[in-house]
Amino acid sequence: MSGSSGGRIPESFIESVLAKTDIVPLIQESISLKKNGANYSACCPFHHEKTPSFTVSQTKQFYHCFGCSAHGDAIRFLMDYHSLNFVDAVERLATRVGLTVPKDPHEAARMQIKHGTTSVLNRCAEFYAHQLKNHPEAKVAVEYLKKRGLTGLIAKEFSLGFAPNGWDNLLKSFQDENETFKVLEETGLIIKHASGRFYDRFRERIMFPIRDRRGDVIGFGARVMDKSQPKYLNSPESPIFQKGHCLYGLHEALHAKEKWQRAIVVEGYMDVVALAQYGVTGAVATLGTAITSHHLQTLMHMVPEIVFCFDGDKAGQGAAWKALQLVLGLLSEGRQVRFVFLPQGEDPDSYVRQYGAASFQTLVKNGTPLSEYFFATLCSKVTPDSVDNRAHLANIARPMIESIPAGIFKEMMYEQLAKILSSTPQVVRGEKAFRSFYSPKGNTRLKVAPPPQPMETANIASALLLKKPELFNVLMQKLPALSNEIIAPGMELFHGLINLLKQNPSALTEQLRKKLQENGFELKRLQECEKKIAIIPDEGLEAEFCGAIARLEVIGREQYTEKLLQKSKISELSDEEKTKLKEFLQIGNQFDS
Ligand code: CTP
Ligand code: MN
Repeated sequence: MSGSSGGRIPESFIESVLAKTDIVPLIQESISLKKNGANYSACCPFHHEKTPSFTVSQTKQFYHCFGCSAHGDAIRFLMDYHSLNFVDAVERLATRVGLTVPKDPHEAARMQIKHGTTSVLNRCAEFYAHQLKNHPEAKVAVEYLKKRGLTGLIAKEFSLGFAPNGWDNLLKSFQDENETFKVLEETGLIIKHASGRFYDRFRERIMFPIRDRRGDVIGFGARVMDKSQPKYLNSPESPIFQKGHCLYGLHEALHAKEKWQRAIVVEGYMDVVALAQYGVTGAVATLGTAITSHHLQTLMHMVPEIVFCFDGDKAGQGAAWKALQLVLGLLSEGRQVRFVFLPQGEDPDSYVRQYGAASFQTLVKNGTPLSEYFFATLCSKVTPDSVDNRAHLANIARPMIESIPAGIFKEMMYEQLAKILSSTPQVVRGEKAFRSFYSPKGNTRLKVAPPPQPMETANIASALLLKKPELFNVLMQKLPALSNEIIAPGMELFHGLINLLKQNPSALTEQLRKKLQENGFELKRLQECEKKIAIIPDEGLEAEFCGAIARLEVIGREQYTEKLLQKSKISELSDEEKTKLKEFLQIGNQFDS
Protein backbone atom coordinates (compact mmCIF):
# COMPACT_ATOMS: atom_id res chain seq x y z
CA MET A 1 0.00 0.00 0.00
CA SER A 2 2.65 2.45 1.08
CA GLY A 3 4.88 1.90 -1.93
CA SER A 4 2.38 2.38 -4.71
CA SER A 5 0.68 5.44 -3.36
CA GLY A 6 3.88 6.82 -1.90
CA GLY A 7 5.46 7.26 -5.28
CA ARG A 8 2.98 9.95 -6.14
CA ILE A 9 4.05 12.44 -3.53
CA PRO A 10 7.03 14.27 -4.99
CA GLU A 11 10.29 13.17 -3.41
CA SER A 12 11.28 16.81 -2.93
CA PHE A 13 8.18 17.44 -0.88
CA ILE A 14 8.90 14.47 1.36
CA GLU A 15 12.39 15.77 1.85
CA SER A 16 11.22 19.23 2.83
CA VAL A 17 8.75 17.76 5.29
CA LEU A 18 11.49 15.65 6.84
CA ALA A 19 13.81 18.64 6.90
CA LYS A 20 11.29 20.65 8.88
CA THR A 21 10.57 17.82 11.28
CA ASP A 22 12.57 17.05 14.38
CA ILE A 23 12.28 13.37 15.14
CA VAL A 24 12.97 13.77 18.87
CA PRO A 25 9.85 15.74 19.85
CA LEU A 26 7.86 13.74 17.33
CA ILE A 27 8.69 10.47 19.03
CA GLN A 28 8.32 12.12 22.40
CA GLU A 29 4.67 12.71 21.62
CA SER A 30 4.26 8.95 21.76
CA ILE A 31 6.84 7.64 24.21
CA SER A 32 9.03 9.36 26.74
CA LEU A 33 12.67 9.67 25.81
CA LYS A 34 15.63 10.14 28.09
CA LYS A 35 18.66 12.15 27.06
CA ASN A 36 21.64 9.89 26.97
CA GLY A 37 24.80 11.64 25.80
CA ALA A 38 24.30 12.85 22.26
CA ASN A 39 21.28 10.61 21.78
CA TYR A 40 17.96 9.85 23.39
CA SER A 41 16.87 6.48 24.59
CA ALA A 42 13.83 4.58 25.78
CA CYS A 43 12.50 1.08 26.14
CA CYS A 44 11.71 0.03 22.60
CA PRO A 45 8.08 0.54 21.63
CA PHE A 46 8.40 -2.16 18.99
CA HIS A 47 9.41 -5.04 21.20
CA HIS A 48 9.12 -5.93 24.84
CA GLU A 49 12.13 -5.08 26.96
CA LYS A 50 13.10 -3.94 30.43
CA THR A 51 16.31 -2.08 29.66
CA PRO A 52 16.27 0.62 27.02
CA SER A 53 17.87 -0.27 23.72
CA PHE A 54 15.81 2.07 21.58
CA THR A 55 17.94 5.05 20.54
CA VAL A 56 16.97 8.24 18.78
CA SER A 57 19.64 10.31 17.15
CA GLN A 58 18.82 13.97 16.76
CA THR A 59 21.77 14.64 14.51
CA LYS A 60 20.93 11.79 12.19
CA GLN A 61 17.16 12.17 12.56
CA PHE A 62 16.92 8.45 12.91
CA TYR A 63 15.84 5.87 15.47
CA HIS A 64 17.35 2.46 15.97
CA CYS A 65 16.67 -0.38 18.38
CA PHE A 66 19.65 -2.52 19.26
CA GLY A 67 17.28 -5.16 20.55
CA CYS A 68 14.94 -5.74 17.63
CA SER A 69 16.63 -3.72 14.89
CA ALA A 70 13.59 -1.54 14.37
CA HIS A 71 14.88 1.57 12.69
CA GLY A 72 13.90 4.38 10.43
CA ASP A 73 13.11 8.04 10.05
CA ALA A 74 10.15 10.10 11.23
CA ILE A 75 7.88 8.70 8.52
CA ARG A 76 8.74 5.11 9.37
CA PHE A 77 8.07 5.80 13.03
CA LEU A 78 4.59 7.08 12.33
CA MET A 79 3.87 4.15 10.02
CA ASP A 80 5.01 1.53 12.47
CA TYR A 81 3.96 3.06 15.77
CA HIS A 82 0.61 4.43 14.68
CA SER A 83 -0.09 1.86 11.95
CA LEU A 84 -0.36 4.51 9.27
CA ASN A 85 0.26 3.94 5.62
CA PHE A 86 2.95 5.93 3.90
CA VAL A 87 0.69 8.64 2.51
CA ASP A 88 -1.06 9.16 5.81
CA ALA A 89 2.24 9.34 7.65
CA VAL A 90 3.55 12.01 5.28
CA GLU A 91 0.27 13.87 5.59
CA ARG A 92 0.43 13.85 9.34
CA LEU A 93 3.99 15.11 9.34
CA ALA A 94 3.16 17.76 6.76
CA THR A 95 0.31 19.05 8.89
CA ARG A 96 2.61 19.23 11.89
CA VAL A 97 5.01 21.53 10.06
CA GLY A 98 2.31 23.51 8.31
CA LEU A 99 2.64 22.12 4.79
CA THR A 100 0.03 20.64 2.49
CA VAL A 101 0.78 17.56 0.45
CA PRO A 102 0.56 18.49 -3.23
CA LYS A 103 -1.62 15.85 -4.80
CA ASP A 104 -1.65 14.69 -8.30
CA PRO A 105 -5.29 14.73 -9.38
CA HIS A 106 -5.42 10.98 -10.06
CA GLU A 107 -4.13 10.23 -6.64
CA ALA A 108 -6.67 12.54 -5.06
CA ALA A 109 -9.46 10.86 -6.99
CA ARG A 110 -8.19 7.45 -6.02
CA MET A 111 -8.03 8.35 -2.37
CA GLN A 112 -11.54 9.64 -2.53
CA ILE A 113 -12.76 6.47 -4.17
CA LYS A 114 -11.02 4.49 -1.49
CA HIS A 115 -12.59 6.53 1.25
CA GLY A 116 -16.00 6.29 -0.35
CA THR A 117 -15.63 2.56 -0.81
CA THR A 118 -14.43 1.83 2.68
CA SER A 119 -17.16 3.89 4.21
CA VAL A 120 -19.73 1.87 2.28
CA LEU A 121 -18.06 -1.39 3.28
CA ASN A 122 -17.89 -0.26 6.89
CA ARG A 123 -21.60 0.35 6.73
CA CYS A 124 -22.16 -3.11 5.25
CA ALA A 125 -20.25 -4.67 8.13
CA GLU A 126 -22.42 -2.72 10.53
CA PHE A 127 -25.46 -3.96 8.68
CA TYR A 128 -24.41 -7.61 9.02
CA ALA A 129 -23.45 -7.16 12.67
CA HIS A 130 -26.81 -5.58 13.31
CA GLN A 131 -28.54 -8.56 11.70
CA LEU A 132 -26.65 -10.92 13.99
CA LYS A 133 -28.14 -9.10 16.95
CA ASN A 134 -31.57 -8.27 15.70
CA HIS A 135 -32.73 -10.35 12.78
CA PRO A 136 -35.56 -12.71 13.70
CA GLU A 137 -33.66 -15.62 12.16
CA ALA A 138 -30.31 -14.75 13.71
CA LYS A 139 -30.78 -17.48 16.30
CA VAL A 140 -29.30 -20.09 13.93
CA ALA A 141 -26.22 -17.96 13.54
CA VAL A 142 -25.82 -17.29 17.23
CA GLU A 143 -26.27 -20.98 17.95
CA TYR A 144 -23.71 -21.85 15.34
CA LEU A 145 -21.13 -19.46 16.81
CA LYS A 146 -21.82 -20.76 20.30
CA LYS A 147 -21.43 -24.30 19.11
CA ARG A 148 -18.01 -23.30 17.85
CA GLY A 149 -17.13 -21.97 21.26
CA LEU A 150 -17.32 -18.26 20.49
CA THR A 151 -18.78 -15.72 22.90
CA GLY A 152 -20.61 -12.53 22.04
CA LEU A 153 -17.63 -10.55 23.19
CA ILE A 154 -15.26 -12.05 20.66
CA ALA A 155 -17.92 -11.85 17.94
CA LYS A 156 -18.08 -8.15 18.69
CA GLU A 157 -14.33 -7.72 18.68
CA PHE A 158 -14.13 -9.20 15.19
CA SER A 159 -17.38 -7.51 14.17
CA LEU A 160 -18.82 -10.84 13.06
CA GLY A 161 -22.14 -10.58 11.34
CA PHE A 162 -24.99 -12.49 9.82
CA ALA A 163 -26.30 -12.39 6.28
CA PRO A 164 -29.89 -13.56 6.50
CA ASN A 165 -31.67 -15.71 3.99
CA GLY A 166 -33.14 -13.77 1.06
CA TRP A 167 -31.96 -12.03 -2.09
CA ASP A 168 -32.25 -8.43 -1.19
CA ASN A 169 -31.57 -7.78 2.50
CA LEU A 170 -28.49 -5.70 1.88
CA LEU A 171 -29.96 -4.21 -1.27
CA LYS A 172 -33.02 -2.96 0.55
CA SER A 173 -31.02 -1.36 3.30
CA PHE A 174 -29.23 0.85 0.78
CA GLN A 175 -32.26 1.70 -1.31
CA ASP A 176 -32.23 5.01 -3.15
CA GLU A 177 -28.49 5.51 -2.70
CA ASN A 178 -27.23 5.50 -6.25
CA GLU A 179 -23.59 6.14 -5.46
CA THR A 180 -23.59 3.47 -2.81
CA PHE A 181 -25.11 1.02 -5.24
CA LYS A 182 -22.20 1.47 -7.56
CA VAL A 183 -19.76 0.70 -4.77
CA LEU A 184 -21.72 -2.36 -3.72
CA GLU A 185 -21.56 -3.66 -7.26
CA GLU A 186 -17.86 -2.86 -7.68
CA THR A 187 -16.97 -4.64 -4.48
CA GLY A 188 -19.13 -7.63 -5.34
CA LEU A 189 -21.53 -7.35 -2.43
CA ILE A 190 -24.38 -7.26 -4.90
CA ILE A 191 -24.44 -9.04 -8.22
CA LYS A 192 -26.25 -8.09 -11.41
CA HIS A 193 -28.51 -10.83 -12.69
CA ALA A 194 -28.90 -11.43 -16.43
CA SER A 195 -32.34 -9.88 -16.13
CA GLY A 196 -30.66 -6.65 -15.09
CA ARG A 197 -31.78 -6.87 -11.50
CA PHE A 198 -29.41 -7.03 -8.58
CA TYR A 199 -29.22 -9.54 -5.75
CA ASP A 200 -27.14 -9.99 -2.57
CA ARG A 201 -24.00 -12.07 -2.91
CA PHE A 202 -23.95 -13.25 0.69
CA ARG A 203 -26.98 -15.07 2.01
CA GLU A 204 -27.49 -17.31 5.02
CA ARG A 205 -23.91 -17.01 6.12
CA ILE A 206 -21.77 -15.92 9.04
CA MET A 207 -19.93 -12.80 7.93
CA PHE A 208 -16.27 -12.17 8.69
CA PRO A 209 -15.37 -8.57 7.82
CA ILE A 210 -11.81 -8.26 6.61
CA ARG A 211 -10.20 -5.01 7.71
CA ASP A 212 -7.07 -3.19 6.71
CA ARG A 213 -4.56 -2.29 9.35
CA ARG A 214 -6.45 0.85 10.27
CA GLY A 215 -9.69 -0.99 10.76
CA ASP A 216 -11.50 -0.07 7.57
CA VAL A 217 -13.45 -2.95 6.09
CA ILE A 218 -12.11 -3.90 2.68
CA GLY A 219 -13.93 -7.17 2.04
CA PHE A 220 -15.75 -10.12 3.57
CA GLY A 221 -15.38 -13.82 4.11
CA ALA A 222 -18.64 -15.65 4.62
CA ARG A 223 -19.24 -19.13 6.00
CA VAL A 224 -22.23 -21.38 5.67
CA MET A 225 -23.72 -22.67 8.88
CA ASP A 226 -24.23 -26.22 7.70
CA LYS A 227 -22.46 -28.68 5.48
CA SER A 228 -23.40 -27.04 2.17
CA GLN A 229 -20.89 -25.90 -0.38
CA PRO A 230 -18.98 -23.75 -0.93
CA LYS A 231 -18.04 -23.55 2.73
CA TYR A 232 -16.66 -20.05 2.35
CA LEU A 233 -17.49 -17.31 -0.09
CA ASN A 234 -15.22 -14.29 -0.27
CA SER A 235 -15.48 -10.82 -1.70
CA PRO A 236 -14.01 -10.76 -5.19
CA GLU A 237 -10.75 -8.91 -5.77
CA SER A 238 -11.09 -5.18 -6.22
CA PRO A 239 -8.64 -2.27 -6.16
CA ILE A 240 -9.00 -2.08 -2.40
CA PHE A 241 -9.22 -5.81 -1.77
CA GLN A 242 -6.26 -7.76 -3.03
CA LYS A 243 -5.97 -11.13 -1.40
CA GLY A 244 -2.24 -11.31 -1.97
CA HIS A 245 -1.83 -8.21 0.17
CA CYS A 246 -4.41 -8.55 2.93
CA LEU A 247 -4.29 -10.55 6.11
CA TYR A 248 -7.31 -11.40 8.19
CA GLY A 249 -6.85 -10.34 11.80
CA LEU A 250 -4.18 -7.71 11.16
CA HIS A 251 -6.12 -4.82 12.63
CA GLU A 252 -7.20 -6.86 15.65
CA ALA A 253 -3.62 -8.04 16.25
CA LEU A 254 -2.32 -4.49 16.10
CA HIS A 255 -4.93 -3.27 18.51
CA ALA A 256 -4.92 -6.09 21.04
CA LYS A 257 -4.35 -5.12 24.66
CA GLU A 258 -0.76 -6.28 24.66
CA LYS A 259 1.74 -5.01 22.19
CA TRP A 260 1.93 -7.30 19.18
CA GLN A 261 5.13 -9.28 19.43
CA ARG A 262 4.54 -12.42 17.50
CA ALA A 263 2.53 -13.01 14.36
CA ILE A 264 1.02 -16.49 14.29
CA VAL A 265 0.22 -17.17 10.66
CA VAL A 266 -2.69 -19.58 10.28
CA GLU A 267 -4.89 -20.69 7.42
CA GLY A 268 -8.46 -19.90 8.35
CA TYR A 269 -10.70 -17.12 9.60
CA MET A 270 -12.00 -19.46 12.25
CA ASP A 271 -8.49 -20.18 13.45
CA VAL A 272 -7.83 -16.49 14.06
CA VAL A 273 -11.10 -15.96 15.89
CA ALA A 274 -10.95 -19.15 17.94
CA LEU A 275 -7.39 -18.42 19.05
CA ALA A 276 -8.44 -14.94 20.15
CA GLN A 277 -11.36 -16.50 22.00
CA TYR A 278 -8.90 -18.57 23.98
CA GLY A 279 -6.69 -15.58 24.67
CA VAL A 280 -4.11 -16.26 21.98
CA THR A 281 -3.91 -12.89 20.24
CA GLY A 282 -1.82 -11.92 17.25
CA ALA A 283 -2.91 -14.59 14.81
CA VAL A 284 -3.46 -13.62 11.19
CA ALA A 285 -4.71 -15.64 8.24
CA THR A 286 -4.31 -15.41 4.52
CA LEU A 287 -7.60 -15.31 2.67
CA GLY A 288 -7.64 -18.81 1.29
CA THR A 289 -4.60 -18.06 -0.88
CA ALA A 290 -0.97 -19.02 -0.55
CA ILE A 291 1.17 -16.67 1.46
CA THR A 292 2.90 -13.98 -0.60
CA SER A 293 5.95 -11.84 -0.04
CA HIS A 294 3.60 -8.85 0.36
CA HIS A 295 2.06 -10.57 3.35
CA LEU A 296 5.44 -11.34 4.77
CA GLN A 297 6.79 -7.87 4.20
CA THR A 298 3.82 -6.40 6.04
CA LEU A 299 4.42 -8.71 8.98
CA MET A 300 8.18 -8.18 9.02
CA HIS A 301 7.59 -4.47 9.45
CA MET A 302 5.26 -4.96 12.33
CA VAL A 303 6.58 -7.76 14.52
CA PRO A 304 9.95 -9.22 15.43
CA GLU A 305 8.72 -12.79 15.32
CA ILE A 306 6.68 -14.78 12.84
CA VAL A 307 5.43 -18.28 13.58
CA PHE A 308 3.93 -20.21 10.71
CA CYS A 309 1.34 -22.71 11.75
CA PHE A 310 0.64 -25.44 9.23
CA ASP A 311 -1.12 -28.77 9.00
CA GLY A 312 1.27 -31.63 9.52
CA ASP A 313 0.16 -33.21 6.23
CA LYS A 314 1.87 -33.09 2.87
CA ALA A 315 0.04 -29.97 1.72
CA GLY A 316 1.09 -28.24 4.93
CA GLN A 317 4.71 -29.24 4.40
CA GLY A 318 4.60 -27.91 0.86
CA ALA A 319 3.07 -24.63 1.94
CA ALA A 320 5.65 -24.27 4.70
CA TRP A 321 8.54 -24.77 2.31
CA LYS A 322 7.08 -22.14 -0.02
CA ALA A 323 6.71 -19.71 2.87
CA LEU A 324 10.30 -20.39 3.88
CA GLN A 325 11.58 -19.60 0.41
CA LEU A 326 9.74 -16.30 0.40
CA VAL A 327 10.79 -15.31 3.87
CA LEU A 328 14.52 -15.90 3.33
CA GLY A 329 14.92 -12.79 1.22
CA LEU A 330 13.18 -10.66 3.83
CA LEU A 331 15.02 -11.73 6.94
CA SER A 332 16.52 -8.79 8.70
CA GLU A 333 18.60 -8.71 11.83
CA GLY A 334 16.56 -9.36 14.96
CA ARG A 335 13.70 -11.07 13.15
CA GLN A 336 12.81 -14.60 14.15
CA VAL A 337 10.85 -17.12 12.14
CA ARG A 338 9.53 -20.45 13.39
CA PHE A 339 7.48 -23.29 11.99
CA VAL A 340 4.84 -25.27 13.82
CA PHE A 341 3.26 -28.39 12.39
CA LEU A 342 0.02 -29.45 14.00
CA PRO A 343 -0.94 -33.07 14.51
CA GLN A 344 -2.74 -34.65 11.54
CA GLY A 345 -6.29 -33.51 11.15
CA GLU A 346 -6.03 -30.58 13.55
CA ASP A 347 -6.12 -26.91 12.78
CA PRO A 348 -5.38 -24.17 15.34
CA ASP A 349 -9.09 -23.82 16.06
CA SER A 350 -9.64 -27.50 16.82
CA TYR A 351 -6.32 -27.73 18.63
CA VAL A 352 -6.90 -24.84 20.98
CA ARG A 353 -10.39 -26.05 21.78
CA GLN A 354 -9.21 -29.57 22.54
CA TYR A 355 -5.93 -28.88 24.33
CA GLY A 356 -6.28 -25.28 25.50
CA ALA A 357 -4.33 -22.09 25.02
CA ALA A 358 -1.34 -23.01 27.20
CA SER A 359 -0.71 -26.10 25.17
CA PHE A 360 -1.00 -24.16 21.93
CA GLN A 361 1.36 -21.48 23.21
CA THR A 362 3.86 -24.18 24.10
CA LEU A 363 3.72 -25.45 20.54
CA VAL A 364 4.29 -21.95 19.25
CA LYS A 365 7.15 -21.17 21.60
CA ASN A 366 8.84 -24.43 20.74
CA GLY A 367 8.24 -24.05 17.03
CA THR A 368 11.12 -25.19 14.87
CA PRO A 369 13.47 -22.29 14.12
CA LEU A 370 13.83 -21.46 10.46
CA SER A 371 17.42 -22.66 10.22
CA GLU A 372 16.59 -26.01 11.73
CA TYR A 373 13.56 -26.49 9.51
CA PHE A 374 15.60 -25.45 6.50
CA PHE A 375 18.39 -27.99 7.03
CA ALA A 376 16.14 -30.78 8.25
CA THR A 377 13.97 -30.44 5.15
CA LEU A 378 16.93 -30.27 2.80
CA CYS A 379 18.52 -33.32 4.37
CA SER A 380 15.26 -35.21 4.11
CA LYS A 381 15.24 -34.43 0.39
CA VAL A 382 18.89 -35.30 -0.17
CA THR A 383 20.68 -37.37 2.43
CA PRO A 384 24.22 -36.06 2.80
CA ASP A 385 25.75 -39.53 2.88
CA SER A 386 27.98 -39.40 -0.15
CA VAL A 387 30.21 -36.85 -1.77
CA ASP A 388 27.82 -36.61 -4.72
CA ASN A 389 24.81 -36.02 -2.50
CA ARG A 390 26.67 -33.49 -0.43
CA ALA A 391 27.65 -31.55 -3.52
CA HIS A 392 24.05 -31.75 -4.74
CA LEU A 393 22.81 -30.49 -1.41
CA ALA A 394 25.26 -27.62 -1.47
CA ASN A 395 23.98 -26.65 -4.88
CA ILE A 396 20.37 -26.59 -3.72
CA ALA A 397 21.12 -24.76 -0.51
CA ARG A 398 23.54 -22.17 -1.87
CA PRO A 399 21.10 -20.02 -3.90
CA MET A 400 18.62 -20.13 -1.05
CA ILE A 401 21.13 -19.00 1.55
CA GLU A 402 22.46 -16.50 -0.94
CA SER A 403 19.01 -14.87 -1.05
CA ILE A 404 19.26 -13.98 2.66
CA PRO A 405 20.28 -10.35 3.16
CA ALA A 406 23.91 -9.99 4.24
CA GLY A 407 24.40 -10.32 7.96
CA ILE A 408 25.24 -12.62 10.81
CA PHE A 409 22.32 -14.92 10.13
CA LYS A 410 23.45 -15.54 6.58
CA GLU A 411 26.97 -16.31 7.76
CA MET A 412 25.64 -18.71 10.34
CA MET A 413 23.55 -20.48 7.74
CA TYR A 414 26.66 -21.00 5.62
CA GLU A 415 28.54 -22.27 8.65
CA GLN A 416 25.77 -24.69 9.44
CA LEU A 417 25.66 -25.90 5.85
CA ALA A 418 29.41 -26.41 5.96
CA LYS A 419 29.07 -28.44 9.15
CA ILE A 420 26.42 -30.68 7.69
CA LEU A 421 28.54 -31.24 4.60
CA SER A 422 31.79 -31.64 6.58
CA SER A 423 33.22 -28.81 4.54
CA THR A 424 34.14 -25.18 5.06
CA PRO A 425 31.91 -22.12 4.69
CA GLN A 426 34.19 -20.80 1.94
CA VAL A 427 33.79 -23.94 -0.09
CA VAL A 428 30.04 -24.36 0.35
CA ARG A 429 29.37 -20.79 -0.62
CA GLY A 430 31.56 -21.25 -3.68
CA GLU A 431 33.34 -18.11 -2.68
CA LYS A 432 34.46 -15.60 -5.25
CA ALA A 433 38.06 -16.15 -4.29
CA PHE A 434 37.70 -19.70 -5.51
CA ARG A 435 35.84 -18.85 -8.62
CA SER A 436 37.05 -15.63 -10.14
CA PHE A 437 40.61 -15.37 -11.13
CA TYR A 438 42.76 -13.02 -12.95
CA SER A 439 43.14 -13.91 -16.57
CA PRO A 440 46.66 -13.18 -17.80
CA LYS A 441 45.54 -12.53 -21.36
CA GLY A 442 43.49 -9.47 -20.67
CA ASN A 443 41.13 -7.91 -18.25
CA THR A 444 38.39 -10.49 -18.59
CA ARG A 445 37.44 -12.65 -15.66
CA LEU A 446 36.63 -16.29 -16.04
CA LYS A 447 33.59 -17.50 -14.22
CA VAL A 448 34.63 -21.03 -13.39
CA ALA A 449 37.58 -22.12 -11.32
CA PRO A 450 40.51 -22.76 -13.61
CA PRO A 451 43.12 -25.27 -12.63
CA PRO A 452 45.46 -23.53 -10.23
CA GLN A 453 48.46 -22.05 -11.96
CA PRO A 454 51.45 -23.04 -9.91
CA MET A 455 53.73 -21.29 -12.36
CA GLU A 456 52.53 -17.85 -11.54
CA THR A 457 50.32 -17.82 -8.51
CA ALA A 458 52.93 -17.10 -5.86
CA ASN A 459 54.50 -14.36 -7.95
CA ILE A 460 51.11 -12.81 -8.61
CA ALA A 461 50.44 -12.84 -4.89
CA SER A 462 53.81 -11.18 -4.25
CA ALA A 463 53.22 -8.58 -6.95
CA LEU A 464 49.85 -7.72 -5.44
CA LEU A 465 51.30 -7.50 -1.97
CA LEU A 466 54.11 -5.34 -3.22
CA LYS A 467 51.72 -3.03 -5.04
CA LYS A 468 49.49 -2.68 -2.00
CA PRO A 469 51.37 -3.64 1.18
CA GLU A 470 48.22 -3.04 3.26
CA LEU A 471 47.00 -6.39 1.91
CA PHE A 472 49.30 -7.86 4.55
CA ASN A 473 46.54 -7.12 7.08
CA VAL A 474 44.04 -9.01 4.97
CA LEU A 475 46.42 -11.93 4.91
CA MET A 476 46.92 -11.88 8.66
CA GLN A 477 43.36 -11.19 9.70
CA LYS A 478 40.99 -12.59 7.16
CA LEU A 479 42.68 -15.50 5.50
CA PRO A 480 43.55 -18.89 6.93
CA ALA A 481 47.24 -19.48 7.61
CA LEU A 482 49.00 -20.78 4.54
CA SER A 483 50.96 -23.98 4.84
CA ASN A 484 54.71 -23.50 4.87
CA GLU A 485 55.19 -26.47 2.67
CA ILE A 486 53.62 -25.29 -0.56
CA ILE A 487 56.01 -25.88 -3.41
CA ALA A 488 55.57 -23.39 -6.24
CA PRO A 489 57.81 -21.04 -8.19
CA GLY A 490 58.17 -17.74 -6.34
CA MET A 491 57.03 -19.21 -3.05
CA GLU A 492 60.30 -18.36 -1.32
CA LEU A 493 60.09 -14.78 -2.41
CA PHE A 494 56.51 -14.62 -1.19
CA HIS A 495 57.56 -15.90 2.24
CA GLY A 496 60.44 -13.43 2.19
CA LEU A 497 58.05 -10.59 1.50
CA ILE A 498 55.76 -11.69 4.32
CA ASN A 499 58.69 -11.81 6.73
CA LEU A 500 59.68 -8.27 5.80
CA LEU A 501 56.11 -7.11 6.41
CA LYS A 502 56.02 -8.96 9.72
CA GLN A 503 59.03 -6.96 10.82
CA ASN A 504 57.63 -3.71 9.49
CA PRO A 505 53.91 -3.83 8.66
CA SER A 506 53.90 -0.25 7.43
CA ALA A 507 56.74 -0.67 4.95
CA LEU A 508 56.19 0.95 1.56
CA THR A 509 56.50 -0.64 -1.86
CA GLU A 510 59.92 0.73 -2.74
CA GLN A 511 61.39 -0.08 0.68
CA LEU A 512 60.20 -3.64 0.30
CA ARG A 513 61.56 -3.98 -3.21
CA LYS A 514 64.95 -2.75 -2.06
CA LYS A 515 65.06 -5.13 0.89
CA LEU A 516 64.10 -8.05 -1.31
CA GLN A 517 66.99 -7.26 -3.61
CA GLU A 518 69.34 -6.90 -0.65
CA ASN A 519 68.22 -10.33 0.52
CA GLY A 520 69.31 -11.74 -2.81
CA PHE A 521 65.96 -12.38 -4.46
CA GLU A 522 65.85 -12.45 -8.23
CA LEU A 523 63.01 -10.07 -9.22
CA LYS A 524 62.63 -10.81 -12.91
CA ARG A 525 59.66 -13.16 -12.71
CA LEU A 526 58.07 -10.89 -10.17
CA GLN A 527 58.36 -7.90 -12.49
CA GLU A 528 56.56 -9.77 -15.26
CA CYS A 529 53.72 -10.41 -12.89
CA GLU A 530 53.71 -6.80 -11.80
CA LYS A 531 53.07 -5.83 -15.41
CA LYS A 532 50.19 -8.24 -15.57
CA ILE A 533 48.50 -6.93 -12.48
CA ALA A 534 48.95 -3.31 -13.56
CA ILE A 535 45.54 -3.43 -15.26
CA ILE A 536 43.69 -4.42 -12.10
CA PRO A 537 41.81 -1.46 -10.67
CA ASP A 538 42.57 -0.51 -7.11
CA GLU A 539 39.31 -1.75 -5.72
CA GLY A 540 39.90 -5.16 -7.26
CA LEU A 541 43.30 -5.75 -5.69
CA GLU A 542 42.02 -7.31 -2.51
CA ALA A 543 39.72 -9.74 -4.31
CA GLU A 544 42.56 -10.76 -6.63
CA PHE A 545 44.87 -11.22 -3.69
CA CYS A 546 42.35 -13.41 -1.87
CA GLY A 547 41.92 -15.35 -5.08
CA ALA A 548 45.65 -15.93 -5.38
CA ILE A 549 45.86 -17.07 -1.77
CA ALA A 550 42.93 -19.40 -2.30
CA ARG A 551 44.70 -20.90 -5.31
CA LEU A 552 47.87 -21.34 -3.30
CA GLU A 553 45.82 -23.14 -0.70
CA VAL A 554 44.43 -25.45 -3.33
CA ILE A 555 47.94 -26.14 -4.55
CA GLY A 556 49.07 -26.84 -1.00
CA ARG A 557 46.15 -29.10 -0.37
CA GLU A 558 46.72 -31.05 -3.55
CA GLN A 559 50.38 -31.48 -2.75
CA TYR A 560 49.62 -32.59 0.76
CA THR A 561 46.93 -34.97 -0.47
CA GLU A 562 49.33 -36.43 -2.99
CA LYS A 563 51.95 -36.84 -0.29
CA LEU A 564 49.53 -38.63 2.00
CA LEU A 565 48.30 -40.88 -0.79
CA GLN A 566 51.87 -41.85 -1.59
CA LYS A 567 52.62 -42.43 2.05
CA SER A 568 49.51 -44.56 2.53
CA LYS A 569 50.91 -46.95 -0.08
CA ILE A 570 53.97 -47.70 1.95
CA SER A 571 52.87 -47.19 5.54
CA GLU A 572 49.84 -46.77 7.78
CA LEU A 573 48.61 -43.17 8.11
CA SER A 574 48.01 -41.70 11.55
CA ASP A 575 44.39 -40.97 12.52
CA GLU A 576 44.99 -37.29 12.08
CA GLU A 577 46.41 -37.84 8.61
CA LYS A 578 43.48 -40.05 7.67
CA THR A 579 40.97 -37.38 8.73
CA LYS A 580 42.90 -34.73 6.82
CA LEU A 581 43.08 -36.87 3.73
CA LYS A 582 39.37 -37.61 3.85
CA GLU A 583 38.57 -33.95 4.30
CA PHE A 584 40.83 -32.85 1.47
CA LEU A 585 39.50 -35.43 -0.92
CA GLN A 586 35.97 -34.30 -0.17
CA ILE A 587 36.75 -30.64 -0.66
CA GLY A 588 38.47 -31.42 -3.90
CA ASN A 589 35.52 -33.38 -5.20
CA GLN A 590 32.96 -30.78 -4.30
CA PHE A 591 35.09 -28.27 -5.98
CA ASP A 592 34.95 -30.17 -9.22
CA SER A 593 31.19 -30.58 -9.26
N1 CTP B 1 -11.40 -20.89 2.08
C1 CTP B 1 -12.06 -20.20 1.09
N2 CTP B 1 -13.04 -20.81 0.36
C2 CTP B 1 -13.37 -22.11 0.59
C3 CTP B 1 -12.68 -22.84 1.58
C4 CTP B 1 -11.70 -22.19 2.32
O1 CTP B 1 -11.80 -19.03 0.89
N3 CTP B 1 -14.33 -22.66 -0.10
C5 CTP B 1 -10.37 -20.18 2.84
C6 CTP B 1 -10.95 -19.44 4.00
O2 CTP B 1 -10.20 -18.25 4.18
C7 CTP B 1 -10.75 -20.38 5.14
C8 CTP B 1 -9.43 -20.99 4.80
O3 CTP B 1 -9.45 -21.08 3.39
O4 CTP B 1 -10.73 -19.71 6.38
C9 CTP B 1 -9.17 -22.33 5.42
O5 CTP B 1 -10.12 -23.25 4.99
P1 CTP B 1 -10.62 -24.42 5.92
O6 CTP B 1 -9.49 -24.99 6.66
O7 CTP B 1 -11.48 -25.31 5.10
O8 CTP B 1 -11.61 -23.64 6.87
P2 CTP B 1 -11.49 -23.21 8.39
O9 CTP B 1 -10.95 -21.85 8.46
O10 CTP B 1 -10.83 -24.26 9.20
O11 CTP B 1 -13.00 -23.08 8.78
P3 CTP B 1 -13.89 -24.09 9.60
O12 CTP B 1 -13.11 -24.49 10.80
O13 CTP B 1 -15.07 -23.23 9.91
O14 CTP B 1 -14.23 -25.21 8.72
MN1 MN C 1 -11.22 -25.24 10.91
